[in-house]
Formats: sequence, structure tokens, C-alpha cells
Amino acid sequence: MRKQIAAANWKMNLTLQQGEQLLDAILAKTTSLKEDQQVVFAVPFPYLAAAQQKIAGKQNIFIAAQNVYSKKSGAYTGEVSVEMLNSLQIPFVVLGHSERREYFNETNQQLAEKLNIALAHNITPIFCCGEPLSVREAETQNDYVAQQLEESLYHLSEEQIQKIVIAYEPIWAIGTGKTASSAQAEEMHAFIRLQLEDKYGKEIADNITILYGGSVKASNAKELFSQPDVDGGLVGGASLITDEFVAIIQALK
Ligand code: PGA
Repeated sequence: MRKQIAAANWKMNLTLQQGEQLLDAILAKTTSLKEDQQVVFAVPFPYLAAAQQKIAGKQNIFIAAQNVYSKKSGAYTGEVSVEMLNSLQIPFVVLGHSERREYFNETNQQLAEKLNIALAHNITPIFCCGEPLSVREAETQNDYVAQQLEESLYHLSEEQIQKIVIAYEPIWAIGTGKTASSAQAEEMHAFIRLQLEDKYGKEIADNITILYGGSVKASNAKELFSQPDVDGGLVGGASLITDEFVAIIQALK
């Protein structure tokens, strides 16, 4: 059974104190998760250690970094390495978020390197893909996403690909309040799974968690997550509001 995941992406929001309050409030309202359900909080780098302490001993709840650099160590001022994440025992990292691609020019090739180093250090990448509005309007989103997968993922071995989580996030739905319909989400998730099946076989493809991201909220999570190939969500705005995110966790299959 593949994992069902509710992942919060705080992005560059909240002070440490606000973040701690939010985590406390969400944890207090999160009752036991099923064995195959996970909750992940992708917090800003300076809060990783504090967040890690807050979730210590909690079953199926994890902290993620929002990015990592592709080199092991050295003279890269301002960057954060996988060894640093390992030293805090951070088990997840978000890679290739569309904001990183757009504002920091991350390419499919650079992301392939980041995936390699994360996997080599036992950190599970949450690999983001998804098309901009112009591509959706031209109805070429399948080709666009297939190319992202091909250029960043398909060098991975069978063993490696099973260790990643994919997040499909149509850029036109991020932070816009404009969610993909559950049918649009399912269509792309099924397409992604079929691509993975072609490359790695059905058994492996069936085991890979594919999250949907883009204006997930309490009011649409259940409908989105009920789709057969949607295995949870990567949530920005609504993850900053206690009751919204708690309801999203409860909407997991
Ligand atoms: P949103 O962000 O939920 O605010 O649309 C999702 C994301 O960027 O991961």
C-alpha cells in the first residue's frame, strides 16, 4: 500500500514563535494516524531543529526541508547541505517547487543532481512537477510534465524511484484559490503513474505516492483525495491555518 500524505509547505511564512504555536495547535488536534498515513511539515531552515523537537516521539509525523543544495559541503555561502539535514535527522526534502524553478532558476538537470544527493543520504525527496497556465491552455500539459519527469527522474534506479514522493502542482492553481478539479487532478495523476509504469513497471508505479498541490483546502481536500491516484496533498496557504490543515489531514484516505 502506498503512503497517503498531508504535507504542509510553510514557504517563507511565520516567525519561529508563530510556527511553534501553529505546530502545537495542529499536533494537539491530530489524533492517531493510520499506519499508511503520514503528516509532513516543510518548515523554513532556521526552524528545522525546533520543529523536529516538537514532533519527537509522534508516530507518522515528520519534518521536511524546503530545499537542499546539490553539493556535499564547501564554499557555498548561504546554502544548506544534505549532511546538515542528516545531522538534524530530517527525513524529507521538497525539491523543484515551482517557486524555486521560477524565482531561483532551478532546472530539471539541477533537480536531478539534488535528487541524487538526497537519496544518497537517505532523505526522501518530495519532487514537484506541474505546468504553467499557458501550457494548460495549449493542452500540452501531459508532454510538459512527462519531460519534467524524464529529465529529473528517469536516471534513477528501480530501488531509488521507490523512495521518492511526487507532487503534481499545476502552477495556475498555486496560491490562486483556483484548484484543479478532482477530475483534472486525477487525469494527470493517472498519466504520471502510467509514465512511471512504462519506465519501471506496474508494481513499482503502484507504490509511488503522488500528491496534489494547488489551493488544497478543507473544503476540497476530501473530494481531491478520494480520487484513486491522488494520495494526499502538498498544501501551502491552508497549512498555515490550524483548523484548515487538521481537516486536510482528516481527509486523507
Ligand atoms: P497553495 O500552495 O496551497 O497555497 O496553493 C501549494 C504549494 O505551493 O505547495
